[in-house]
Amino acid sequence: MRLDVLTIFPEYLDPLNVSLVGKARARGQLQVHVHDLREWTHDRHNTVDDTPYGGGPGMVMKTGPWGDALDSVLADGYETGSHGPVLVVPTPSGRPFTQELAVELSERPWLVFTPARYEGIDRRVVDEYATRMPVYEVSIGDYVLAGGEAAVLVVTEAVARLLPGVLGNAESHRDDSFAPGAMANLLEGPVYTKPPRWRDRGIPDVLLSGHHGKIARWRRDEALRRTTANRPDLIERCDPAAFDKKDREMLSILGWQPGPDGRFGRRPDTVEE
Ligand code: ADE
Repeated sequence: MRLDVLTIFPEYLDPLNVSLVGKARARGQLQVHVHDLREWTHDRHNTVDDTPYGGGPGMVMKTGPWGDALDSVLADGYETGSHGPVLVVPTPSGRPFTQELAVELSERPWLVFTPARYEGIDRRVVDEYATRMPVYEVSIGDYVLAGGEAAVLVVTEAVARLLPGVLGNAESHRDDSFAPGAMANLLEGPVYTKPPRWRDRGIPDVLLSGHHGKIARWRRDEALRRTTANRPDLIERCDPAAFDKKDREMLSILGWQPGPDGRFGRRPDTVEE
């Protein structure tokens, strides 16, 4: 997979040399190109922004440098044999970045990121490139960052670990929270490793039992416990067919019950005012 990042803070992307993404690059599984947007400015001050039409606070990133930079990066990629680029535009106004979207992006051969600063990029840039390639405007959460670079790091890490051969153990992302499958829509529960006692704290006996069925059940119960506590919205959205008899018992213990449509909701007596 090829990644291009166009930014006015190239050094912000230095973490892409480290850890999982860094290793994937070293192994040739990922080609990362970080470009300084200011290389495509033509004035003495390397200006990339200007005041917004219609007035208002802040500055808007200008079309010129973005257009020239994207043309040049796309031409370079095509010349060196890449194909099928998609534009990934981090913005708090984008669609939520989810595991499902990470999987979708991991199946593309070439991602071009345009992290913006200030109030964002002149809309005509996205409209222009949307005529040439798929555009994903993505938000990594309901908060506003000072720029999109941190979002590029987030998306890149989530995507890179899904590429074939990047994770050491091929099964490592099978049970991820949010992965498709039996645990879909449940958060992963707690995990433990050696030593068996630490500061007088032991680990749940079942994990030492060697009984795979019981361990799987315990993990599922803990996933239900954690999801009801931290992300009740995920339980409410869950297809009730995903819950077996034991899940239903656990949900009942946790204060949840099926409503008229079968979907689970909190029992009224357990809802805090
Ligand atoms: N840029 C600023 N805030 C952002 C967010 N929440 N997600 C993606 N890009 C952003």
